[in-house]
This record gives sequence, C-alpha cells and structure tokens, in this order.
Amino acid sequence: TEAPAVANAGNTKEAKDITLGFSQVGAESGWRSANTKSIQDSAKETGYTLKFSDAQQKQENQIKAIRSFIQQKVDVIAFSPVVESGWDTVLKEAKDAGIPVVLTDRAVDSKDTSLYITFLGSDFVEEGRKAGQWLSDQYKDASEDINIVELQGTTGSAPANDRMEGFAEVIKTNPHLKVIASQTGDFTRAKGKEVMQAFLKAHKDIDVLYAHNDDMALGAIQAIEAAGLKPGEDIKIISVDAVKDGMQAASEGKINFIVECNPMLGPQLMEIVQNVVDGKSVEARIVTEESTFTSEQAKEALPSRPY
Ligand code: AHR
Repeated sequence: TEAPAVANAGNTKEAKDITLGFSQVGAESGWRSANTKSIQDSAKETGYTLKFSDAQQKQENQIKAIRSFIQQKVDVIAFSPVVESGWDTVLKEAKDAGIPVVLTDRAVDSKDTSLYITFLGSDFVEEGRKAGQWLSDQYKDASEDINIVELQGTTGSAPANDRMEGFAEVIKTNPHLKVIASQTGDFTRAKGKEVMQAFLKAHKDIDVLYAHNDDMALGAIQAIEAAGLKPGEDIKIISVDAVKDGMQAASEGKINFIVECNPMLGPQLMEIVQNVVDGKSVEARIVTEESTFTSEQAKEALPSRPY
C-alpha cells in the first residue's frame, strides 16, 4: 500500500536546506543508544539539520517536543512514540501546520492514518511469535508444566503490547507452557533486575524467563546469579534485540535465544524524509528485516556485530 504523496508535491529541496525534528523515546536501553546513533550519524551524512530531543520515556515531553518542532517550522517531524495511545491532538496540529510526520520504530493506535505519512520499524508481534515458537519447539515433548516469567517492556508501548501478544498466541498451542508472572521492567537493566528479584522470591520453580529486551534480561541475569542459580541452565532465557551485550551473554550460554530487533533505522529514515519533502509517494508501512540467534549462532555473529 502506498500513502498519498504529501501536499508539497514538486517542492524539492536540497539536503542542506532540510530540517528534521526527531523526538526520541529516551536512552533506556542499548538498542535505543544504537538507534539514536544511527539517526544522528545518518542525518549528518545526508547533510540535513537535525533537531533532536530526548523525551526520557515520558509522553508529555514528546508532545512538547513535537509542538516545538511545529513552531520552528521544521520540514519533517519523525518520532518514536513512547506509548501507543494519546497522539491524535498533537498529530492533528502537525497536519494543520502542513508538516508531515513519520513514525519510526513504534506505532500509534490513531484511527486516522492520514495523521502520519508512514511507519518505519519492526513487526513486534512477529518478534513475539518467534520467541514463542522457539520455546514451543524446545518443550514440544514436555509432560509437565513449564513455568514462564515475563518481563514486559514499557507499559502501553507498542513493543510491550505486541511482543506479549505474539508470544501468547504461539505458546497457547502447547498447554504445558504457563506464564506464571508477567510484569513491566520498563526496558531497563535496573528494573529488569529488581522485578526478577521479586519473581525469584515469589516463585521457587521458574523454568523460563521471557524478557522483552536484552537489557532487562541482562539485569535479570544478575538477579538469577545472585540467587545462586545458573542463567541459561537453571532458568532458560529468551530475549529480544540482539545488541552487543545481549549477544555476548548469549554466546556465553546465559541467554538461550535472542530475537533480533534492528535499531539501524537512520539511513531508511533519511531517504523517506527526502522523498516526503520532494512530494514523492512513500509506502505506508516499511517493515525492517530481522533474524534470530541461538547461543551458537550468537557466538559466530558476535565479532561482526556493528552495535
Ligand atoms: O521500541 C524498540 C524497543 O525499545 C527495544 O526492543 C527496546 O530495547 C527499546 O527500549
């Protein structure tokens, strides 16, 4: 599907005259740092002026940043929405001001899709399914219950909602796979550790941890080791992202399976921005390509990982 070309069709601009306002979620994870670097480096290479704002995981800060981009009359606004809901008003303001908006990494749940040009990012439901599929395959011959604890991402965020949904959809086909506890760890290492400590206290029989990102898994690994257990053996661990630290832990056998989520969205975003400014039509949804890694595969891939 192609989104309609934007209003400024035919108004081409040179890269040096293009200003992009980008509102980032925060700096909560290794993934986010790699994503920020990709966007900043690509904007520099392309020659755009980048106005970058860090929302520190708060929607109100993102709304403020978007309003300020509108006031500054940037050419394009791009943002990675911290949560899915509550964007209609500010997106309408951007539309009324004639400033096209590009969603990167995370989606919004606005019914009116004319409020943004395109959404560039991963298929998070599919990532959850891949995690669930690996687990289901591991335990296809299980004859007793397998107790799973889940560390969710930021409450209300697209990756937390979707990774939970995709995972649940697949594991329900195996009645022995039981999620016994599920709580947010806000995508951070510190919160991942704290919540895992609480899980370990409350449940003596945890078989599997499903963490919605590597950072929370890494925090949880500290809690598991502190409890005298072996991550990857006593408790199997699945996570999402495949950033360097996660891949390192996987290559050491502490994480058993990682679903990749690609943060290198900068080059594609810059291309979209130029097309939007030139009034060319842009695909309404651009999905990032991603793979998965077992411990063995992580060991092989680690030396050439760019982030
Ligand atoms: O939106 C992508 C997610 O946000 C990443 O998986 C996570 O690490 C980040 O904080």
